[in-house]
Amino acid sequence: MDYRQLGDTGLRVSETGFGAWGIGGESYGVTEKRESLRALAVAEELGCNFLDTAPVYGESEQIIGEFLPGRRDKWILATKYSGGAASLRTTLVQQLQRLNTDVIDLYQIHWVPRGDDTQLYEELYRLRREGKVRAVGVSLYNVNDIDYVIDNTVIDTIQLPCNLLEPLPYLQRLKKIQASGVGVIIRSSLKGGLLSGKYSRETQFTDARDQRSKLSSEELHSLFAQVDAMRFLEQTAGSLALAAARYPLSFAQTSTVLLGTKTEAQARFNFGEVPGGRLNEDILQRIHATQIQLGLFPPRWKLWLQKLKNQLRP
Ligand SMILES: NC(=O)c1ccc[n+]([C@@H]2O[C@H](COP(=O)([O-])OP(=O)(O)OC[C@H]3O[C@@H](n4cnc5c(N)ncnc54)[C@H](OP(=O)(O)O)[C@@H]3O)[C@@H](O)[C@H]2O)c1
Repeated sequence: MDYRQLGDTGLRVSETGFGAWGIGGESYGVTEKRESLRALAVAEELGCNFLDTAPVYGESEQIIGEFLPGRRDKWILATKYSGGAASLRTTLVQQLQRLNTDVIDLYQIHWVPRGDDTQLYEELYRLRREGKVRAVGVSLYNVNDIDYVIDNTVIDTIQLPCNLLEPLPYLQRLKKIQASGVGVIIRSSLKGGLLSGKYSRETQFTDARDQRSKLSSEELHSLFAQVDAMRFLEQTAGSLALAAARYPLSFAQTSTVLLGTKTEAQARFNFGEVPGGRLNEDILQRIHATQIQLGLFPPRWKLWLQKLKNQLRP
């Protein structure tokens, strides 16, 4: 496992982190607790030290609370908060109990508060000063969110999506992010499993507890048209899953890539195979050319994309 700095927090995180949404059993289909605990243990054996969960991820926090005793010092534990400022402290106490710990290493607001909600940042800073949480962050969605938090707050980390089919907003703000010193946690690099290579446009997601079952056949069809355009990576980069997970790892600003992991086999790949590898310049240029063809970037960005070379991690 390779490790990277989590921005200016002083924390060193494994290049791939354990995304614990799936083990909650409500969004990626039913899971078995024994298999979830095994996946966590294998991740730890392979050197993964970063774990991201949330109280809204089904049973995820409870399962992690069962897993952590005796090994708490091996993990940097990140969770989230989704409510208003008034109930933040009482919720945190409940989370500490569920997670079987006395401190959260990274406490993230699940969106970017603005207007009346900005008192949430003050609450976070107070918790950080009191040592109840070590670092604070937000989970965000778009370029305005990135600009807002970097320009107006003193949070430590941002969490945002970035994958072969969603290079923006991350690539749009690489320089600004680098200059700010925030740690960068990338999510959804496998596009919820659709970029793992194991699904096709014939796939039917039938488990009602799998969010992918809500996608219409038209939505799946157009998503898989995009996935198929990236299948050249099966030859050039080893496999689609490997290329997808390594794509955000190829940028120097990325601290860790969360890989949603449900099984021991997935843990072996996500924490044993993915780390340590980068996509080379030729492959990245081909990916960006395909992204332009798919309309994921405005065409005039072609030149701008070539300049991304300077942002790559050696
Ligand atoms: N707003 C937010 O804060 C937010 C939103 C989304 C996610 N997140 C965080 O980011 C994490 C990851 O993002 P994500 O949920 O969008 O998922 P993702 O990492 O893009 O995809 C995860 C899914 O891909 C499949 N998969 C994982 N590893 C695989 C492998 N090696 N081979 C084949 N299939 C594999 C699994 O589902 P199947 O086996 O069922 O296909 C897994 O549930 C989450 O767990 C969560 O911690 C945060």
